[in-house]
Amino acid sequence: MRRKLAAGNWKMNGLKADLAEVAALTAAHPAPGTDILLCPPATLIAPMVAAAQGSALAVGGQDCHAAAAGAHTGDVSAPMLADAGATHVILGHSERRQDHDEHNEHVRAKANAALAAGLVCVICVGESEAERDAANTLDIIGGQLSGSIPDGVTGHSLVVAYEPIWAIGTGRTPTLDQIGEVHDFIRMRLERRFGPGIGRSTRLLYGGSVKPANAAEIFAVSNVDGALVGGASLKASDFSAIITAL
Ligand code: G3P
Repeated sequence: MRRKLAAGNWKMNGLKADLAEVAALTAAHPAPGTDILLCPPATLIAPMVAAAQGSALAVGGQDCHAAAAGAHTGDVSAPMLADAGATHVILGHSERRQDHDEHNEHVRAKANAALAAGLVCVICVGESEAERDAANTLDIIGGQLSGSIPDGVTGHSLVVAYEPIWAIGTGRTPTLDQIGEVHDFIRMRLERRFGPGIGRSTRLLYGGSVKPANAAEIFAVSNVDGALVGGASLKASDFSAIITAL
């Protein structure tokens, strides 16, 4: 049985004052049956870990460098995230792929660094609107899966997030059938590559305009094991409603 996971990606949002949202969230879910993860900007990882102490909330990074240390000004390594108390890291988000020209091989190298540091990798895949319109969605997702996910993963160290680029921050979502088709495809590809153990225990999240109003119907789709939530994870009340819908 896969445990449900509600993950929040704060992106480049959040100041120390916003840790009040964490206090509200952990108060609302003192001992949840659901796994909850928040990925704040790097500056807030250590204080968020401190704020989440004693609760079920896990904290993750939004990216890491492929090297453990060295002359890479401005970058953060996987061991640094772990040292700050992070247990997860988002890798290959479409905003990183677009803004920082990250390709599948970069994501795979970063994932290897994250695994070596003991972090769970939340690897993002997703098609653009043009790719969907051209009926290339499954080809694109298949290429991202085989290129971005390293060989050394286990069912516990890997989470895959399907985030159609055109659904991120737009208020638009795929139909439930479209979400199901992609999640079933990801499950099939993981089983084929890694075997039934890892293939069936890896959690698959949907991301892209998940809100309290649409969370329950999305979570009912086959092979959807939770969500990776952007905007609606910034407010404890919204994120809490999504967690409750899981
Ligand atoms: O990583 C989460 C994300 O890209 C979805 O963002 O704001 O559409 O929930 P949002």
